[in-house]
Amino acid sequence: MIKTGFFVMLFSLSCLTVPAAATDPKLLLPHRGCYVLSATLHDLDSDLFKLSDVNPALCTYVVYGFSAIQGTQLSLTKSDEENLMICGMMRQVNPALNIFLAVDAGDAGTEKALAELSEAKARGEFVRLTVQQLRAHNADGLVLHTESLSYASANVVALLLQELREKFVEESAASKQSRLALVINVGNAAKTSRLDPQLLTGTADIIQVRSFDYHTPASEPTVTGHNSPLYRPSGPASNSPFTGSIENTFHDWEILGIPRQKLVLTIPLYGQAWRLISPLRYDPGAPAVGEASMRGRYWDVAGKLAFHDICERLPSENLTRVFDSDAMAPYAHDNISRTWVSYDDLESVRIKARWLLEGNYGGVVFWELSLEDFNGTCGMHPMGLLKGVADVFAANAKVLFEDKRMCDQSFCLKRGVGVFALGACNDSYCNCDHGGKAFTVACGPGTVFDSLTLVCNYAASMKACDGTINSKKKI
Ligand SMILES: *[C@@H]1O[C@H](CO)[C@@H](O)[C@H](O)[C@H]1NC(C)=O
Ligand SMILES: *[C@@H]1O[C@H](CO)[C@@H](O)[C@H](O)[C@H]1NC(C)=O
Ligand SMILES: *[C@@H]1O[C@H](CO)[C@@H](O)[C@H](O)[C@H]1NC(C)=O
Ligand SMILES: *[C@@H]1O[C@H](CO)[C@@H](O)[C@H](O)[C@H]1NC(C)=O
Repeated sequence: MIKTGFFVMLFSLSCLTVPAAATDPKLLLPHRGCYVLSATLHDLDSDLFKLSDVNPALCTYVVYGFSAIQGTQLSLTKSDEENLMICGMMRQVNPALNIFLAVDAGDAGTEKALAELSEAKARGEFVRLTVQQLRAHNADGLVLHTESLSYASANVVALLLQELREKFVEESAASKQSRLALVINVGNAAKTSRLDPQLLTGTADIIQVRSFDYHTPASEPTVTGHNSPLYRPSGPASNSPFTGSIENTFHDWEILGIPRQKLVLTIPLYGQAWRLISPLRYDPGAPAVGEASMRGRYWDVAGKLAFHDICERLPSENLTRVFDSDAMAPYAHDNISRTWVSYDDLESVRIKARWLLEGNYGGVVFWELSLEDFNGTCGMHPMGLLKGVADVFAANAKVLFEDKRMCDQSFCLKRGVGVFALGACNDSYCNCDHGGKAFTVACGPGTVFDSLTLVCNYAASMKACDGTINSKKKI
């Protein structure tokens, strides 16, 4: 009797004194985000891209976009509401799937609305209504695109991020649901970001980095270049086609203090297409005359080709693929139409996925699914690039995301037989034999283990170990 009373008293005391805590959003690492844009969607009975073409098992979150801001709330059309409902039903296939709604703060119309949110009262109303709208549509969070933020909007967006995050915490405690997630999309140039990195880290659950459009026929019509190179290709550094890479971009965000696990790489599901001056010169950096004349079948945008358009044409239309092992990205050229296109394919996305795991980054987000080979026409699994990344993550993520990778029996039991990296650029590696026995093997003097080629190599000759991102310095 006395015991029961004691516990009852303790329980009621704790109810009185401890405020209900917010619970963090349930987000699976590494992320595999999937963009679905309302403008690309067709009716469910169409042959063209539609929501039922999305395989929810290949995504950990779906971003549905874009909503504008109208007055003090998000403007959602009737079809947006229906689409969000269908996205919600994808949880029947993948119960862990998160559904996010995207808003572009750099959009011209939204910019006007943002100006009005500079007033604290209007902002408070917007934040309150946003929570209501997200919950009403069964969404798990908001994605705010800030990569083309104007100078004028930056202050308002900074305040919004803070207040949204605070409201999300408050609402989670009150509703006893997981907190709504806040995802921030940033540009590839960390140095010119208009938002304070500390604010980004403090408010965002995920920071999606716009890691494509490094070179486009619109911005550099006279010379070809990679759309989304992992590494900077060798060549004259001052020459514009050779500057900029995902590795540099992530490094720049990181030295601003953004934790690696928050950083998510955007994989573009399309290529940039130029018209070559001469069919005989088709390397990255080759002379070009603006956009290619080759156009997409469904996504007909000058100078751009959807992945499904590229992969279908590789065998039939004289497009020849070349893999650039400096940039770790493919390009294809056609000497009749003089098309040159840089893009991502199964090989490059798998390499990117491994690079992310080795670096302990947060994962990927795909931009955007209507451009994928969603029919599986190119001889791969439908949505073969999403599948490729999911496979790499499934095979490696569990071990690589452990805090300490110790070469011991339990490590080998999880990995199977073979040689395995002990983190990025480590000077030893782990050898697991058939009996599940673990041997730590030291690389030769001056060399580190290369997780892509699975051999020891000079750190200086490995781009991932050139002393910038990793602690090892150039020898
Ligand atoms: C997908 O398949 C449908 C039905 O066969 C076809 O009409 C459509 O053109 C295909 N889309 C792509 C991008 O291959
Ligand atoms: C492919 O090249 C051949 C000649 O090499 C040409 O006859 C044919 O028209 C080309 N096909 C396309 C689709 O451009
Ligand atoms: C066109 O490309 C094909 C395949 O790469 C090659 O065999 C052929 O020699 C090229 N023709 C010209 C004119 O460059
Ligand atoms: C290499 O990996 C082992 C095992 O995780 C770790 O103890 C060691 O500190 C690492 N060495 C370097 C140089 O990172």
